This record gives sequence, C-alpha cells and structure tokens, in this order.
Amino acid sequence: MIKLEDYKAPEFKIASVHLEFALDPEATIVTSTLKMVSDSSTLTLDGDELVLLSVELNGKPVDHVVTPTSLTLNVPFTPFTLVIKTQINPTANTALSGLYRSNGTYCTQCEAEGFRRITFFPDRPDVLTTYTVKITGKEPLLLSNGNQLEHGVWHDPHPKPSYLFALVAGDLGVVKDTFTTMSGRVVALEIYVEHGKEPLCAYAMDSLKRSMRWDETAFGREYDLDVFMIVAVSDFNMGAMENKGLNIFNDKYVLANPETATDADYANIEGIIAHEYFHNWTGNRITCRDWFQLSLKEGLTVFRDQEFSSDMRSRPVKRIEDVRLLKSAQFAEDAGPLSHPVRPRQYAEINNFYTATVYNKGAEVIRMMKVLIGEKAFADGLDLYFKRHDGQATTIELFVKCFEEVAERSLDIHSRWYEQAGTPLVRVSTEYEGGVLILHLEQVLREGHLPQSLPLRVGFLSPNGEELFEETITLDQFKGRFIFEDFKDEPILSLNRGFSAAVNIDYGRSDQTLAFLATHDSDDYNRRQAVETYALKVLTKGADAAPFIALYGKLIEESPRDPAFYAHALTLPSEEDIAREIGANINPDAIKQTRNTLVVALAKAHAERASALFHTLQTGAFSPDAASAGKRSLRIALLRLMVIEGFDASEIYMNADNLTERFGALACVVHHGNVATRDKLMADFQARFEDNANVFDKYLSLTGMKASVLEVKTMLQGAVFTKFNPNRYRALVGVFAMSNPTQFHTKAGYDFLCEELLRVDKINPQVSARVANAFRSYKSMEEPRKLAAHEALLALSKHELSNDLKDIITRMLA
Ligand code: BES
Ligand code: ZN
Repeated sequence: MIKLEDYKAPEFKIASVHLEFALDPEATIVTSTLKMVSDSSTLTLDGDELVLLSVELNGKPVDHVVTPTSLTLNVPFTPFTLVIKTQINPTANTALSGLYRSNGTYCTQCEAEGFRRITFFPDRPDVLTTYTVKITGKEPLLLSNGNQLEHGVWHDPHPKPSYLFALVAGDLGVVKDTFTTMSGRVVALEIYVEHGKEPLCAYAMDSLKRSMRWDETAFGREYDLDVFMIVAVSDFNMGAMENKGLNIFNDKYVLANPETATDADYANIEGIIAHEYFHNWTGNRITCRDWFQLSLKEGLTVFRDQEFSSDMRSRPVKRIEDVRLLKSAQFAEDAGPLSHPVRPRQYAEINNFYTATVYNKGAEVIRMMKVLIGEKAFADGLDLYFKRHDGQATTIELFVKCFEEVAERSLDIHSRWYEQAGTPLVRVSTEYEGGVLILHLEQVLREGHLPQSLPLRVGFLSPNGEELFEETITLDQFKGRFIFEDFKDEPILSLNRGFSAAVNIDYGRSDQTLAFLATHDSDDYNRRQAVETYALKVLTKGADAAPFIALYGKLIEESPRDPAFYAHALTLPSEEDIAREIGANINPDAIKQTRNTLVVALAKAHAERASALFHTLQTGAFSPDAASAGKRSLRIALLRLMVIEGFDASEIYMNADNLTERFGALACVVHHGNVATRDKLMADFQARFEDNANVFDKYLSLTGMKASVLEVKTMLQGAVFTKFNPNRYRALVGVFAMSNPTQFHTKAGYDFLCEELLRVDKINPQVSARVANAFRSYKSMEEPRKLAAHEALLALSKHELSNDLKDIITRMLA
C-alpha cells in the first residue's frame, strides 16, 4: 500500500537522459544513459518485466542487485553517468502498458507506471529531466517527444517526468496543417493514422486548432514546441494520452466522417483532443508531485475541456450532459465500496484511481471554487498558478493556495471537498409568513466529516412564473438559515441552479411545483432537473403519472424551440438512474418494468404529436455543429415514441445519410421495435460495417445492452473476438456488465463476468480491473442477487490475480 503521508522527495537529480531504442518486434534493446548526482550512496530504480543486459557506472561494469521490480546499486557523491541496457518484448506486451505494438505499429503508454516496463528508471512524476531519444529500426516513421534533430533522433527541451515519454514507430499516413500562436510562432500540426484513413482526420485537426486558439484566449496559454503530433492507434487502454508534443489516441477519438461517426462521437473527439492538448499546461508544464495529486492535472483539465466545449457548443446543454455523467459515474462510485476522496490518501494500484471521482468530482470542486471566489479571483489565481509553478511537480494544496492568496481568504473549508469522500446531502425546508421567506438548509455528510462549502445558486420565481431575482448563498456549516424579504406572495424556489454545488438535495416538492419549474424556470439546467425529479417521483414513489404525461406533451410541443435541450428533457431517467434513486434492495426487473410502463404510456399519449413534429424537423445536409446535432437528437427522441407505438423505422434507418440517424433509428428498433424489424436492421448494420472496427463496436454495444449471458458467451466465441482489443471487449462485455442490469444482476451474469475477469486479467489487467467496476453497486441489490455477487467475487479473489484486479476485488469485498 502506497501512502500519501510516506511521501519523500527524491535524494538525487537527473541532469539528462539519453535513450536509444534498437527496435525489434520480440527483442527491442533499450540503452539508457543517465547523467546524475545523488545525495545518497544507494540508488534504487523501478523496473517491471525487464531483462537486464548490463549496467555501467562511469564507463565500468558495476555491482548491482536486481529484483523483478527494482535495480539497486551504490553510487558516488560526485556527478556520475549510468548506462543501463535492457531487453523488452513489445509483441508479447498485451497489457498495453510500456512499449507495445498495435497493428504492427510500435507505440508506448507510460502513464502512470509504464515507463518502468521500458527501462530501469525512477518512475515517479516528481523526477523531471530532459530527454534525447534515438530510435533505430526499419520503420519509415520514427517519432518521439519534442523536436526532431534528424530522422529518428529527438530532443525535448522541456524537462518532464517519465510518464510523459512517448515513442511511435511504424508506417502510417499523415495529415498536416499549421497553427500560428498568439506570439506569431508557426507550429507544425501532424495527425498520424493508418494509410487510407487520412480523410477521417479533418474534424480532429479542426478541433485541435480551435483548442489551441481557445487556450490562448481563455487562459493565456501558448504552445511551446515547433511541432504537435497526434497518433491514432486501435489498441489502447484509455481514451487518449497527453505525452509531450506526441499525444497518442485511441483511434475512435480521432477518426470521423458523417457515415461512420455519430454526433456523440464528434463531440467526444472535440472534447478529448482539447483535453489532451490542454494538459500541455495543466499536467505537463506543471505536473504532479506524486499520484495522490492526480486530480491536480485531471480535475483541472476536465474543468478546462468542459469550459471549452461549453464555448464551442451550448453551455446549458453541456452542463446538463456533464452533470448526468457526474451522477451516473461519480455519485454511483461514491455510493459504493470503491468510494474514495478526490485526493486519495492511499492506494494499492494507481491505475485504479483514474476515476470519475478524481476526474469529474475533481472538476466540480474547481467549478465550485470559482463560484465561491468569483470569476476575477479565479482567473488571477490560475495566472498565479501558471507563473509560480511552471516547470514544477506540485500539489493540490499549493494549487489552492494560489487562489487563497489572490482572493485574500482561506479556502480551508472548501478544501475538505478534496479529502472527504461521499456525496453531501442537503436537506431543505422553508417557512413563509408576511412577505418573509426563511430558507433552512442542512448538510448531511458521513460520520465524522466536517462541513464543506456548498455554493448554491438560488432563483426566486413569482407564482405566475416571473423571475424575481437570483442569489448565490454558501452553506459552509452543518446548518444555515437564510432570510429573504419583501415578497408579495410566497415565491417558488429554483434551488442549486446549474448544479452549482455537487450535492444531492432533499426537498419535498409537490408534483405541481415540479411541473411549474419544468415549464417556467429560467435556468435550463433546473428546468430539466425538475422534469427528472418529477419522473423519478412517478417511477419510485408512486406519484400520479397522468399529470406527468400531460407535462411531457407540453414539452414535446415546445421542443422545436431548443431541440438539443428538449432532447434531454424528454429523456427519462435510465434504469441505473432509477436504481440509484432507490438506493437499496434493488430489483432491476421491477425497475425495468415500471420504467417501461411509463414509456409506453407516454408513447400512447404523444406518438401522434411526436410524429407530426418529427416530419417537420428537417436537418438538411449533415454538419457536425451543435445546432444540427441537437435537431438530430430531438428527432431520435421523438422517433422512439413513434416506434413504441408501432411505427416502422426501417425507412428512416435505410435512408439516413449519417450515422447518428441510422444508429439512432436502429437503437429505437432494438429497444422498442418488433423482433422481425430488429433482426432485419441488425443484420443490415452488421453487414454494412463489419469491416469498420469502431462502427462495428457500436453494433456490439447495442447487442450487449439486450443480450442474455448465453448470447454474449456465444458472441465471444466468434471470429471478431479472436484477437483481444480493449474497445471491442468493452463494447460487448463492458456494456453488458454496466448497461444490461436485468441480465447482469443474476447469478449467471455474475458468474459469467467473474470467469471473464479471470481470463482477461491474464491478457490485460487494466481492462479487467476497469470492467470489474460493474460490481461496484452489488451491495445495494436485493437478495439473493447480492449474495450471488458476493460469492462470485469471493471465489474470484481466491485465484492469482493481477495487482489491478486484486485491488478492485479486495475493496469491493471489504
Ligand atoms: N492522462 C490521461 C490518460 C491516462 C489515464 C493514462 C490513465 C494512463 C492511465 C488522459 O489525459 C485522460 O484523462 N484521458 C481520458 C479522456 C479525457 C477526455 C477525460 C481517458 O482516456 O479516458
Ligand atoms: Zn487527462
């Protein structure tokens, strides 16, 4: 177990490192030359699955002790040169950490601890040094970080930690462009993809240029090398990686054209290209002292990419989407056995802390701080952070300190958000008399936790729907009383507008009030929240469905006003959302049935209206912009109602000129259509896209959401699964476990997943550990499901598992 309190600064410095790679598929030789000084007479370096060929100190072989995870030797107190030769096997590297091959292309993934799988090195983020790299091999393309000195020789002038190292070698196509920075420097932009896929890079390139400009205008951050490269590979554990000057991407977040990418794919590409680019400042120029500080770079960079997408698209719609993700991923994580603080205090495996808590809750903590101290102090605080910590490996504490200094106030209470796990609950009640409204708030936290600062934007509406005023109040004690005066009539409160505080709210509101807010609130976020809260009341508390169904009709009528917004307003809470609301003794079959009853009633009442609107909502020639995408998403929301009421969507599917509409129609049919149409369209989709891995994965996801255990098992035997690929595996098995609750939460489902975890753990521990997260809510299931899950996990824990999977299973069983 690694503990935050055990942190010790390194006792040595690396002046520079020179790496030579003699590439070979099964026996690559890595020669590392380190120029160092040390305050300690022993030096221990990290290693993982390395074959050590030789160690030389100042030109002579030297005594050393090598273990499976380390290399230790005695070193002088004077400056010295260490030359280490290791041998590695990229082809055998199925874990996709370190140097590996994807479709024959050599590539690397070093975050968090992959560099130690390349050479012995102090593989920790607070050891910064400058790298020169020489790659020899027969590949036409030999890339590494920084600027190219000659073919295959690279120099990165910016000191960096080992996790930002990257190497790519292969035969790839390239798309080139340039960007002129705010100070007038011309930067070469290059996106590398498999030959033939160059035309699919246009949107990624456009997103990159917009990201670079936006970081200049919004944050004053300029790019700092002569070249910025992106390489797309098809085998990748994560979404993408911010290696200095050489980002490596899962190709599904690069490649797009209207026939093979949905609007959601376009939005993801834009957001992830931006995210990795923004890391150049928040992550690379300023990095983490240790991995407990992960949210320093990830939370901040998620905050930045969210802001970017808000500026590129619709801010309220982006907020609705971000909060939906926060609740489904982070609130769910925080409510189960994998709950941890944004800044964890200990870990057994750092790979398992790239979580929604560190990322998305981390971004919320920054967003809340901005509300607390105001925009000006927030901007000044960030400027100070960039100035003060440039070139350093630092901490969350020192980040917060920058804001404390410029705002001239303590943020101690706010900082508890970093340390205390769990989602705060705010209990709300009001008293009204003679024009005076008293708002009582209470924050409920875990046992022993101290109050956090909760900034709540509150709107006041008159009973006829007029916006009276808005105020931001902060609850930073357990209880607070806020008094508002001079009302003519009792106002209606719109609480926590824009989800300004990342909390759950317990405020018993009548159906009428929720319907009122759903139609009158001036805050789009809360308008949709009211619909959701109302729907959850109908679905979990037996509220009368009829007025909700009427409200839904009204929303449909209004929907052309703002298609993207109403597409969200018309989307009912998912089965997982409903399960989270119920919280304990969950019966997924009952949830599915209840939800379905409401869906059918809504369709019965409104399919005709939906159909009339559907046909008038024309989207025109495809363009990936937010407004066009919004229309398409509303069309799909309406089509769903039509299909439930018996409409045959085959023609919509067949005539679609873009994947959003084609796949949207297919999904409606798969979830709600008749069996014959479903089978016909699924077969068509399969045949159409069998040669396009990323689109075919969508077919598998749709399958995974509906299939039985037996069907999933059968598919896994098929030819498309012969070679292990993370995207493919997650598309079927990951989606089955996360998004098919009625099939997964059965003894057969649990046993199947555990068998799979055991098998895949031998191939790729990061993937098995990630998929194992599907068990995170098992303790809230009803019996005998809970027991079956527990037994399956217990049986799995008796096997020899990777550190990654063992850590997840251990915490889950604790
Ligand atoms: N630094 C991460 C990638 C990473 C994560 C590497 C975990 C190694 C282990 C990167 O910046 C990142 O956060 N990627 C996200 C996408 C992003 C838009 C949130 C990812 O890959 O999911
Ligand atoms: Zn990131």
